[in-house]
Amino acid sequence: MHFASVAYVGESTTEPLRYYHNITSNTLVVLEAMAAHKVKTLIYSSTCATYGEPVKMPITEKTPQLPINPYGKAKKMAEDIIIDFSKTTDMAVMILRYFNVIGSDPEGGLGEAPQPELREHGRISGACFDAARGIIPGLKVKGTDYKTADGTCVRDYIDVTDLVDAHVKALARAKPRNSRHLQCWNWKR
Ligand SMILES: NC(=O)c1ccc[n+]([C@@H]2O[C@H](COP(=O)([O-])OP(=O)(O)OC[C@H]3O[C@@H](n4cnc5c(N)ncnc54)[C@H](O)[C@@H]3O)[C@@H](O)[C@H]2O)c1
Repeated sequence: MHFASVAYVGESTTEPLRYYHNITSNTLVVLEAMAAHKVKTLIYSSTCATYGEPVKMPITEKTPQLPINPYGKAKKMAEDIIIDFSKTTDMAVMILRYFNVIGSDPEGGLGEAPQPELREHGRISGACFDAARGIIPGLKVKGTDYKTADGTCVRDYIDVTDLVDAHVKALARAKPRNSRHLQCWNWKR
């Protein structure tokens, strides 16, 4: 399971080379290392950012992937490399495109701990925790012109424990020459 990534859309626009290097190029290196050591199964963490701004909702696995920022583009390129490589080998591949992940380990062992230096690029989940803990003065809700009751953005989330469940299932079902890419959002729909 390849989770490692830099993963902030805003940061990717100011440091694109770091994102292409660490996401695209390093995934290529991971594939080479897997091949050298005969590791036969890969579950890859991709993202809804690979879809860009689709005209039609809801987004499905068939929605064209037209990413609009370096983070999404780097992940899309990594996906392409993985799929092309899997066609030439007996490596079993599952690509999971997560939407917005939220939540913590119910037993309290793991939780969200935003790195202070990344707060300004951070996710709304981290900002909620920071506001609740008094680390920032309040929660700033961005967006005023979405087609919603109050003009702010509406998003849905997948709980991290459901995402773990999805990975376990993906691992069990990964088969060579049957690359799959699946979305992870609103998992219980
Ligand atoms: N959190 C979300 O909502 C979300 C949504 C879509 C996709 N994803 C993807 O899920 C994966 C995990 O995201 P996360 O939210 O846990 O992010 P995170 O930033 O909390 O964790 C990523 C981890 O990868 C490590 N890392 C980065 N580069 C590395 C490298 N070269 N070698 C080894 N480790 C490295 C970082 O130190 C960090 O611990 C990422 O691939 C991300 O792109 C996350």
